[in-house]
Amino acid sequence: RSSSPETPPATTVTDKYAYAFDIDGVLIRGGKVIPEAIEAMKMLNGENEYGIKVPYIFVTNGGGKTEAERCMQLSKQLEIEVSPGQFICGHTPMREMASKYHTVLVVGGEGEKCRHVAEGYGFKDVITPGDIIKTNEDTTPFRSLTPEEYANSKVRDFSTTIIEAIFVFADSRDWASDQQIILDLLMSKGGRLGTRSETFDEGPPVYFSHNDVVWSTSHDLTRIGMGALRVSLEAMFKAVTGKEIKTNAFGKPQMGTFQFATRLLQQWRKDTHGIDQPPDTVYFVGDTPESDVRGTNEFNKQAENTWYSILVRTGVYQEGTEPKYPPKATVDNVLEAVKHGMEREY
Ligand code: G3P
Ligand code: MG
Repeated sequence: RSSSPETPPATTVTDKYAYAFDIDGVLIRGGKVIPEAIEAMKMLNGENEYGIKVPYIFVTNGGGKTEAERCMQLSKQLEIEVSPGQFICGHTPMREMASKYHTVLVVGGEGEKCRHVAEGYGFKDVITPGDIIKTNEDTTPFRSLTPEEYANSKVRDFSTTIIEAIFVFADSRDWASDQQIILDLLMSKGGRLGTRSETFDEGPPVYFSHNDVVWSTSHDLTRIGMGALRVSLEAMFKAVTGKEIKTNAFGKPQMGTFQFATRLLQQWRKDTHGIDQPPDTVYFVGDTPESDVRGTNEFNKQAENTWYSILVRTGVYQEGTEPKYPPKATVDNVLEAVKHGMEREY
């Protein structure tokens, strides 16, 4: 129930509660906005019967573009202003690793986008799979660079280069060649391409920006995502070396991501609404039980019962199945999720 056109939107902002939204499967699906999302944003911005506005942030595991670029796109789709100050994507926390590692391999995404994101985060020396293939085309027997990739990639002397860490920023566009290159590094002597370790335990660490095995996009059924690449890579390392490898993942359901989201929300409420105290409740609206609900429920235990999980039926979760991590509420779509939270508050 939104207000009639004669009633101006409310201007009073509540300091009691806030929302955090997952994106894929909640607001967007296959690049298109889920229609109820536009109405849901209007409600939060004051078009509601309670006469209040409610602060909100976005927490997606997706990525592959700068935060600013993604916010511009989201602003158009949701017909509101979305600021990077209220947005976290899977790779946002990787920014904090730029002071730890100098030379890194960045994998995934379209063209050169992820190289630019990583450089924007402050990584000093960013290498892509394209640089490695251009330098030695025998690296990947079944992948040749497109003319554009060839033009953008940089030849360098890898015999004097130590790759200190591997970051999978976004979904790989070519699993076979990207995995070959990651595997080469994991089996190398301390991150030196072209070498082979005798013990296979001295390769660089691997960080994935999230661990979603499946996600919700334009197909009716879920599609495999970055978490699937992770599973595949770990299995392949075992098959080739006989050893186990431990890789790392950012994103939801990691507690670090929820702590990051808490700090972002606190700053956002302070800067835009002048609210200087934590909310009593944060409603987290997501579609994936394994990342959104699991993370929210676990974080709720450390956050004094202030995080409340709402699962929607527009994405990964399918009605009729038992979610592995049960939410506090399950609703049809994001508009129902916003209404559910508001009704609980009054
Ligand atoms: O690749 C992104 C996808 O796995 C999930 O994105 O917005 O549902 O966290 P999101
Ligand atoms: Mg989602």
